[in-house]
Amino acid sequence: MTRKGRMRKTLGPAFAVAAAMAGAGQAQDIEAGAESFAAHCATCHGSDAAGDGPMASILVKQPPDLTRLAARNGGLFPRARVVFRIDGRDQLVAHGGEMPIFGGLFEGNTVAIKDQSGQPILASEAIVDLVAWLETIQE
Ligand code: HEC
Repeated sequence: MTRKGRMRKTLGPAFAVAAAMAGAGQAQDIEAGAESFAAHCATCHGSDAAGDGPMASILVKQPPDLTRLAARNGGLFPRARVVFRIDGRDQLVAHGGEMPIFGGLFEGNTVAIKDQSGQPILASEAIVDLVAWLETIQE
């Protein structure tokens, strides 16, 4: 079995429980977003999102520092790209990569938010919360 397959299996139940809990939150609930990040993302991206999680050392491709998403995008937080990256709408993810696809784990109410250019995008409440938290930690 591949390393990736093993990881998915190990983390599966924890993801499902945390995702169910995250589903109870309100739109743009930053605290809930922080909790989702700790549950689903910190293993690779690090608890402070700097890209230094405990699993980073065994990944072929290093998880990026998520506190610098805006800085790397000319100072503008790439909201749509981040949402699509997490729920798997981003084709890069669909075609494989180290980053797991979380679409199914963050099911729940769909809410509309605006991307960085003012266009509406639809995403699950839990992902919206998570992305709202990520926006608060940009450096
Ligand atoms: C198994 C390790 C792993 C986990 C868990 C993980 N990521 Fe990632 N992530 C990566 C890696 C590796 C990359 C960079 C390589 C790639 O693009 O596939 C990445 C890339 C990203 C990017 C793209 C950054 C950019 O510049 O566009 C975002 C956003 C992101 N992750 C957010 C998250 C969020 C939010 C979670 C939790 C829901 C998460 N990741 C969980 C490993 C992980």
